[in-house]
Amino acid sequence: MHGIIGFIKPHIQFGAIPVLFPLKKVKVKGALLQLLQRCSTTSNSFQNAANQLKNSSSRVLVLTGAGLSTASGIPDFRSPGSGLYDNLEKYNLPYPEAIFDLSYFHQNPKPFLTLAQELYPGSKYVPNIGHYFVRLLENKKKLLRVFTQNIDGLERLAGVSDELLVEAHGSFVTASCIKCKRQADGELVKQQILTNKIPECEICKNLVKPDIVFFGEQLPERYIELSMNDPFLADFLIVIGTSLQVYPFAGLANMVPSNVTRMLINRETVGSFGMRDNDVVLNGDITSNIELLAKELGWWDDLVALEKDLVS
Ligand SMILES: NC(=O)c1ccc[n+]([C@@H]2O[C@H](COP(=O)([O-])OP(=O)(O)OC[C@H]3O[C@@H](n4cnc5c(N)ncnc54)[C@H](O)[C@@H]3O)[C@@H](O)[C@H]2O)c1
Ligand SMILES: [Zn+2]
Repeated sequence: MHGIIGFIKPHIQFGAIPVLFPLKKVKVKGALLQLLQRCSTTSNSFQNAANQLKNSSSRVLVLTGAGLSTASGIPDFRSPGSGLYDNLEKYNLPYPEAIFDLSYFHQNPKPFLTLAQELYPGSKYVPNIGHYFVRLLENKKKLLRVFTQNIDGLERLAGVSDELLVEAHGSFVTASCIKCKRQADGELVKQQILTNKIPECEICKNLVKPDIVFFGEQLPERYIELSMNDPFLADFLIVIGTSLQVYPFAGLANMVPSNVTRMLINRETVGSFGMRDNDVVLNGDITSNIELLAKELGWWDDLVALEKDLVS
């Protein structure tokens, strides 16, 4: 995570204008976003795309976000009413994003640590059919990579192999000191957090936090390396459950070549979806649309069997 230049040119193009983004987790708001969200029509058909996915794709890139895990009971950020940002009163934060803000964490680590108790993989939540669909793509030897913004570890729990998974905003598996950056024992930090202790660095006595990327922090090196190649290697893109508001992650959807079919599975149309002729947008509930897609592919029985297998 250290010593990486702060800026790259990630080949993101809005119209013909190349855009430079800082290599940090940043939010893009306002007019630019509205411009991107305006067009949502698409001329590719769902059946065509499913046929292509089944019969002529072998390097499927999957991008996921918090919406994928709402069916597992984990609130997303931005859904009005149920999203985390609308339900942070108990944490008494000065502003919602403070929960992932390093300087705020320094002053008051409790809100993030309370959230971490909830989200520690294996403590409370289990994968749903959407996570198993990603694993099924791996079983069918079609998965190039899944990049997830989620920190809940559910892709891992669904059995997606380490080498096919990129946890773009970090994970709870490792932890380090926020000051001297020394790696701490991830398992010990987990036990401390789960028993309401505040983990401290053995060397400099500053706070230790799980390696979840906060706003303004650099993304993991694995993300940086793979994000510069995978989008260009993909022959099919599936985006599931993300508002595509957090950059540079959101830019990955724009980096796939223009002849690659992009499929969005999300309640509303997001990002630049609908701007390319071969985009396919499945609006509505993710679980229902995953079922629809699996049935169209003739994979529904495989998916149900896989879920049963992994749950038992
Ligand atoms: N599960 C998690 O690990 C988790 C949860 C909340 C936030 N986060 C973090 O929050 C940031 C948020 O960005 P994001 O884009 O992932 O989330 P987001 O909250 O900004 O967007 C979620 C998207 O999913 C859609 N959605 C939610 N539930 C859905 C459903 N059942 N069916 C269809 N669509 C549904 C919403 O309409 C929205 O467009 C990321 O950086 C991530 O690290 C992670
Ligand atoms: Zn330290």
